Amino acid sequence: MSKLSLAVDVAGLRLRNPVMNAAGVLGMSPPILKRVYDSGAGGVVTKSVGPVPRTGHQNPTLVRVSCGALNAMGLPNPGADYYVEEIKALKEMGVPTVASFFGGSVQEFADVARKLTEAGADALELNASCPNVADEMGMLAADAGNLERVTAAVKNETRLPVFVKLSPNVTNIKTVAKAAEWGGADAITAVNTLMGIAIDVNFRRPVLTNTTGGLSGPAVKPVALRCVWEVSQAVEIPVIGCGGIATWTDAVEYLLAGASAVEVGTAVMTHGFEVYGEIVEGLGAYMAENGFSRVEEVVGLAHDAGRDTQSKVDRCSIRV
Ligand code: DHB
Repeated sequence: MSKLSLAVDVAGLRLRNPVMNAAGVLGMSPPILKRVYDSGAGGVVTKSVGPVPRTGHQNPTLVRVSCGALNAMGLPNPGADYYVEEIKALKEMGVPTVASFFGGSVQEFADVARKLTEAGADALELNASCPNVADEMGMLAADAGNLERVTAAVKNETRLPVFVKLSPNVTNIKTVAKAAEWGGADAITAVNTLMGIAIDVNFRRPVLTNTTGGLSGPAVKPVALRCVWEVSQAVEIPVIGCGGIATWTDAVEYLLAGASAVEVGTAVMTHGFEVYGEIVEGLGAYMAENGFSRVEEVVGLAHDAGRDTQSKVDRCSIRV
């Protein structure tokens, strides 16, 4: 049997293992992202960078809810021109860096993608799915035609792998994923946060200044896992799983559902930075125990099992 390796190549992005942080949760400062890498992650994802500096929404912007967190940061970021230097710093530290980004128009998406490419990012993650600025810029992932156009414009500006991050807040995620693929996406990240509301009974109003926020954490895992399952059936490109991953078993579920890599966000708030190393270690032990030598061998396996089960069900119902 060949030697066990956790290394993956996700649409051209080579990582020592398939575990990254999810955009946003830890912000974007290079020393913090370096800690994610030093804690064992295969690469890091920045918080989304836009064309110009934004302060984001007013506090409160984050509230803990049962089994997760609800946030409405409002895409605060220092703007692409400033962030170019931060990407350079991450690269100097030897950290594989995925730059998450957004824009308010096709041209803005393309311009930011070009700047982050020139800065030296290793891959780009197109945030098509922020739930908290929909009034201002709409939600791209809710419109397949626009998403295809934006993805194509971004691909025109960069030679880097482009991951398109989708929203679970849509009727048919397969259609949206297909549109991104048609636009030239190299991978799909599934998924961003689920829209929700928390209400304070004493103040008798929503807790978040923005009223609604994005739900993340264990509460969203079954929904996000279903999204990965559906998207991986709909597209030929790799899928990166994201949503409620806190343990190695969560990560393995995502691989089995069809993800080639995973992103871990909210769990860093509950489990600390060690969560990355723990997931990587657990994944390695699972592979060794089950005779896998490469991560790719695990990817999508649950679909085959699903077909077997389905055909057994069919056989049973024929007999009945
Ligand atoms: C924000 C952006 C996101 O993409 C998300 O899922 C949640 C919050 C934000 O900055 O508001």
